[in-house]
This record gives sequence, structure tokens and C-alpha cells, in this order.
Amino acid sequence: MDALRIISEDHNNLWRLATTVDQLAGEMETQAKAGAPAGQAIDTAFFSSVLDYIEQFVERSHHPKEDDYLFRLLRLRNPYAAPTLAALQADHRGGLARLGTLRQRLSEATQGQLPVADLANQLRAYTAAMKTHILTEEKEVMPLARKALRKEDWLEINRAFNDNHDPLFGDTAQAEFRELYHRIVSLAPESVGLGGHSVGSLPAKAVAVEAEVLLRVQGMESCYGRIKALKGITLEVRRGETVALVGANGAGKTTFLRTLSGVQPMSAGSIHFDGDDISKLRSDKRMRRGICQSPEGRQVFGPLSIEDNLRLGAYTQPRHHVEGDLEKIFTMFPILREKRALPAGTLSGGQQQMLAIGRALMGRPSLLLLDEPSMGLAPLLVQEVFEVIKTLKSQGMTILLVEQNALAALDIADRAYVLETGNVTLTGTGQELISNEQVRAAYLGM
Ligand SMILES: Nc1ncnc2c1ncn2[C@@H]1O[C@H](COP(=O)(O)OP(=O)(O)OP(=O)(O)O)[C@@H](O)[C@H]1O
Ligand SMILES: [Mg+2]
Repeated sequence: MDALRIISEDHNNLWRLATTVDQLAGEMETQAKAGAPAGQAIDTAFFSSVLDYIEQFVERSHHPKEDDYLFRLLRLRNPYAAPTLAALQADHRGGLARLGTLRQRLSEATQGQLPVADLANQLRAYTAAMKTHILTEEKEVMPLARKALRKEDWLEINRAFNDNHDPLFGDTAQAEFRELYHRIVSLAPESVGLGGHSVGSLPAKAVAVEAEVLLRVQGMESCYGRIKALKGITLEVRRGETVALVGANGAGKTTFLRTLSGVQPMSAGSIHFDGDDISKLRSDKRMRRGICQSPEGRQVFGPLSIEDNLRLGAYTQPRHHVEGDLEKIFTMFPILREKRALPAGTLSGGQQQMLAIGRALMGRPSLLLLDEPSMGLAPLLVQEVFEVIKTLKSQGMTILLVEQNALAALDIADRAYVLETGNVTLTGTGQELISNEQVRAAYLGM
């Protein structure tokens, strides 16, 4: 992966973390105002785990790597970048000290020596500075770097960012970061994310290999009139896996998902899900069992409010689930909360996609089907959608992902199937398919 993409992924990750901290700072303030004692209002373990992560990941790894390679070479190639870089690097240098102060404040507030509201303000000031820093890098430094740096510079930078033996950045360090991050996820209160609480430190990849088969499709056929669109598809998905389905226009991807969720008739074959034969089950019954789909083209109900669209996704759910789940979706996609009362048709394409995914999640899927979630979106939003999928994956969700954007899909998939005119023609791990010559030529444009 090239260095800028690695940096941007780090940024996305940190942005989410910052937003979460802001939210919890707000909740903690509310609790304190309602009279909760400091020790109870402040989730010390959670905030400490965030600070640990930032210390290890950002201060000791991400920043030094930027300084030593990207910033150094950019300064060399474009003197006008110097003031911006100097400010960012001053920020980098002060990072550990700021963390130290924040830890101090956290401990004072927990012991009742500092008002909870003051701690909340300090946390918010910290995340605000972090967000400004990220934006400066994304909006100023990266465009400058793209213009000014030479081929040989990129070789050097990319090599440094992909050095798996680097003690501060390589495999061992990555494993530590993951562990720290999982700690955050496992400590996060219920109000954060979707069931992050129950995920603990399950590494998704490891789960995939040993986990039981959740979905087994054998010899699936489906026709439109006399045209056979699926000619005998056999595939399986294990619990916790992300499986991608790639293939050209008209290969049958959508037909497959629709047949799986039962809205398109199956003319031959069988579907086993969670141990049971569901081949003859009606689509709403399949949804009740946890097969929930975000359809191609999003298909949100334009005149209905955003909130009502989400509620529709929960129509198979008992009532007592709905309010809590709605909160989780709103936490995951704050923009939907902000606009909850507006007609869904007023949302941008990217926001409608979030809504479509949110609606599917309201059905409490045990298998989430996503049909071309990035279709028709601007590159930045495509990335955002894939971030969402990655987050769901890291929370242990089992996902069947159909994408035209094959490279991105294969990149996050544990395994993948290539579909050609109604048949599976190739299968393997995502990485195997990425390096497969035929796949590269046919789908990745390389
Ligand atoms: N409603 C329909 N009536 C008749 N034929 C259809 C219908 N929907 C799809 N088909 C045909 O079935 C085949 C598979 O189409 P499908 O939409 O499943 O492909 P896809 O892989 O999802 O394509 P895309 O990448 O364009 O979304 C195609 O030959 C298509 O023309
Ligand atoms: Mg399709």
C-alpha cells in the first residue's frame, strides 16, 4: 500500500477515535451534572486506553515516520511547504507532553480534584487540535507532496512505510497497535458503535479460518424467463468472514444476492444457513434469521424521513430492540442523527448509502449482504464506505460484499469469488485474487 494511503487510513481511524472521545466527554459531563460522582461518571479505563493507543501508535510510530520521510523530502523539494511543516512538526514534538498533561488531568478529575466539566473541555480541546492537525495534513501537505515529490522520493517513502521489520512500524508493532485498539473497543461503553462491546480482541482473520460455516450455497440456479442468470453457484461463508463477490456487469452478482435473500426465485440448488435448510423459506423469514441486505442502488424511501427508513429496517425485530439499535446507528453515522427528521431523498448519495447500510443493520444481521455500496460515489466517499465496512468487519460482522470496485473489495475480503455469466470461475483469498494475473487483467485494470 502506498504511504499516503497508509497515512490516510490512520487518519480515518484517529478521526473516529476523536469523535468517540468527544461523544463520551459529553456523556460524562451530562452524568456529572445529573449528580453522578466523578469516579462513576468518568470512564477512566476507556480514556486511558485511548491515550495509550495514541501514545504508542501516533506519537511513537506515525509521527516519526512522517517526519523522517514524507516531511523531510517534501521540505527538500518544495521550500514553500516549510512553514506548514514546521508547525506540524512542532505539534509532533509536543505530543507526548500533551498526552502526559491529559493523563494528569484524568487522574485529578477521577479523584475529584478537577471538575468533570473541565476534564471534558480538555479532552475536547485535545481532539479538536488532533482534527485540525489531520485536516492540515490531508488538505495541505498531501496535495503538495503529490505535486512536488519525485518518483525516487515516493519509492523511498513507500519502502519506509511498508517495512514490516521496522521495530516502530512493522509487523510486531502493528500487532501491538491492534491489541491496544481492541482494548479500546472492548472497553467502549454500549453507546459506542455496534456491539463493539462483545467483540473483545477477536482478530477477524484468525476467526475466519477456524469458524464454522454460516452460509452454504450449493448449485444455485435462477432464471429470468428462459434466461438462466445463475447456472449453479456453490459458495460458503464462515462466521466472521468478509467474502467478496466480484465480476463484470451482468455476471449475476445482484441476482445471487436477491436469490439468497429470497426476493428472486431459485430454480435449483440449496441454501443452508446457520445449520438449517432455508431454501424454501420466504424472504421475510430469512431476514428474521439474520440475512439482511443493503440493495444495489440503495433504494431508500425518498419521501419518508431518515428515522422512519431506519425503523423500516427493524420491522422483523421485537419492539424493545428498536430504540437502542437506532441510537447505535446514529452513533455510527452522526449525520443521520442530525438529519433524522428530514426526508431521505434530501440526503447526498454517500449519506443515502450510509442510510441503506444502517437500515440493513437495524435488522440485526448475522449475515450482512452489501450490493455495490460504493457505486456512483466520489472517491473520498468510496473510501468512507469502505471504512464503514472495515469497522463492521472488525466488530465481527459476517459480510458478503458485491463490488465493481474489485481492488478495494478484494483488499478487505478474507476470501472472494469471481463470477462470470452465472458461474463461479475462480475463488481464493482476497490477496490471492489480487495477485492473480487473469483477475488483474480482467477486473483490476492492471
Ligand atoms: N429483471 C430482469 N429481467 C431479465 N433479465 C435480467 C433481470 N435482471 C437481470 N437480468 C439479467 O441477468 C443477468 C445477471 O444480472 P445481474 O443484475 O444479476 O448482474 P450483476 O452482476 O449484478 O451486474 P451489475 O454489475 O451490472 O450490477 C444479466 O444478464 C442481466 O441482463
Ligand atoms: Mg448488480
